[in-house]
Amino acid sequence: MSTASSSITTNVSSNSDLTAILEPVASDIAAAEELLETNLIDDNPFVADLLAQVFQAGGKRIRTGITLLASRATQPVQTEFSRLHIVLAVLTETIHTASLVHDDVIDGAAVRRGKQTVNRKWNDRLAVLLGDLLFAQASICLARIMNPVIVGIYGQVLGDLCAGEIRQMRSQYSCEVDWDAYIRKSVCKTASLFAAGSHSGAILNGCSDDVVTALKEYGMNLGICFQIVDDLLDVTSNTEKLGKPAGSDLQGGLVTAPALSVLERNDGPALRLKELIRSRGIATEEGTNEALEIIRANGGVEATIAVCQKYAQSSKQQLLKLRPSRFRDSLEGLVDYVLTRTS
Ligand code: FPP
Ligand code: MG
Repeated sequence: MSTASSSITTNVSSNSDLTAILEPVASDIAAAEELLETNLIDDNPFVADLLAQVFQAGGKRIRTGITLLASRATQPVQTEFSRLHIVLAVLTETIHTASLVHDDVIDGAAVRRGKQTVNRKWNDRLAVLLGDLLFAQASICLARIMNPVIVGIYGQVLGDLCAGEIRQMRSQYSCEVDWDAYIRKSVCKTASLFAAGSHSGAILNGCSDDVVTALKEYGMNLGICFQIVDDLLDVTSNTEKLGKPAGSDLQGGLVTAPALSVLERNDGPALRLKELIRSRGIATEEGTNEALEIIRANGGVEATIAVCQKYAQSSKQQLLKLRPSRFRDSLEGLVDYVLTRTS
């Protein structure tokens, strides 16, 4: 892989239109969409409807986009684009969707992306089984790719997803969380899958270790940034925009970046926030609103934006190791999109 220009920009407000960013891989995404809704397990029409429902529920396809853009950006010259990259994108999106179906059971969530969740519309048992079926579909994708290194990468992702949820569960209503633990949890819950999607295509393309590692780091930093922005939106956005209840992290006793930034000041407002969390006062509507006020009035939002920008910058930096292309430009645009998204 050739070395690259040093013209990566850091303008956070540019390229915020996701459709335009993903345009270079629009036809690949269409191929992935077709495969996503195919029931690879059996021909039960009820299951086919459920699959269509979860995949058509307004997902942004960021993971599909990253996987395909990175695959295209590292495609060896004068070669055909292999169908295996489409399967890789479907694998990545399917694992993400399966984990959300299970997550909504764990959280008892009624709404996702503005639509009723499977557990609410039917029940927890059906949602668990649908999540399992999606993981089974993902295994079939992995088998089709037939690459033991990629099997290992995605096996680690599945373990990370579970480990991240367990870490989170065990830290509810605790102020023992520090930045290190918070970032580790974010890697498990989110960044591990981003990184898998961003560097597995380069492995299939037979790229050098330098390029594979750069893309892994790109996805890792972008995934951490994505999760921190998610946690920020819980504090700054509203239920209508998010398509899920705002403030629910705080209400559930989760200490994320905005709260951490205030807690580490150890001043009066920090002590009050700590008390709200430890006493579980934060679980009431009144307590959540007070915590939101404390965070907003004491620099929690600004400090969190600064942390997101640091990870976004590290993510972009890795792209310098790729040859210039419109796919690389879009990978860069995705960083800006993730940083400035509002839902
Ligand atoms: C959303 O978190 C959830 C995740 C990013 C991962 C959830 C993972 C699991 C439930 C484990 C999956 C199981 C297997 C077998 C791999 P969130 O609740 O913070 O975000 P939300 O507000 O969008 O729900
Ligand atoms: Mg959830």
